[in-house]
Amino acid sequence: MRILISQEQLERRVSELAREIDRDYLSGRRPDDPLICVGVLKGSVFFVSDLLKEVKTPLAVDFFQTSSYGIRGAHRGELRIKKDIDLSVSGRDVLILEDIVDTGYTLRTVLDLFRFRGARSVKLCALLDKAAAREVEVPIDYCGFPIENAFVVGYGLDFDERYRNLPYIGIYEGEAEP
Ligand code: IMP
Repeated sequence: MRILISQEQLERRVSELAREIDRDYLSGRRPDDPLICVGVLKGSVFFVSDLLKEVKTPLAVDFFQTSSYGIRGAHRGELRIKKDIDLSVSGRDVLILEDIVDTGYTLRTVLDLFRFRGARSVKLCALLDKAAAREVEVPIDYCGFPIENAFVVGYGLDFDERYRNLPYIGIYEGEAEP
């Protein structure tokens, strides 16, 4: 496992992202109009919990899950909702929190869905941006780190459900990419 982003780098960047989010959302926000923060399961859970502890903007947290990465035979653009959010996004500002944008299909789908449901605004915050793998365009409003086109694990990201609890992001070199 080669370390790509250390624990210290992650901590520093996550704090910076929290300040960027507050800069854009905090001013004049009333507690009865919270920012709806939606984490995409499962990879974003470590990122979501570290990030949102540092955000001062009044917010609500929810989670969304699509069918898992790389199901054989599934059309890449056609995602199944495994877990929908509980909160209404109608008339709300929504911030989607994702671990990594790879092909872009997951975020494109989630973004379009929340817009369709009448969100006032929908923005994306992704810890990692694997731009070279992109197949559909998605605007990333808050990006932690641009990374190379490699398979990475740690800090929530898995290979076959393993390595999520590594405190750093590493390049997985053990076996072929699933
Ligand atoms: P996309 O729909 O192709 O952008 O894929 C996004 C999802 O694929 C992420 O939320 C991850 O769960 C998974 N994924 C993409 N690249 C990697 C990687 O390098 N390591 C682990 N999971 C990945």
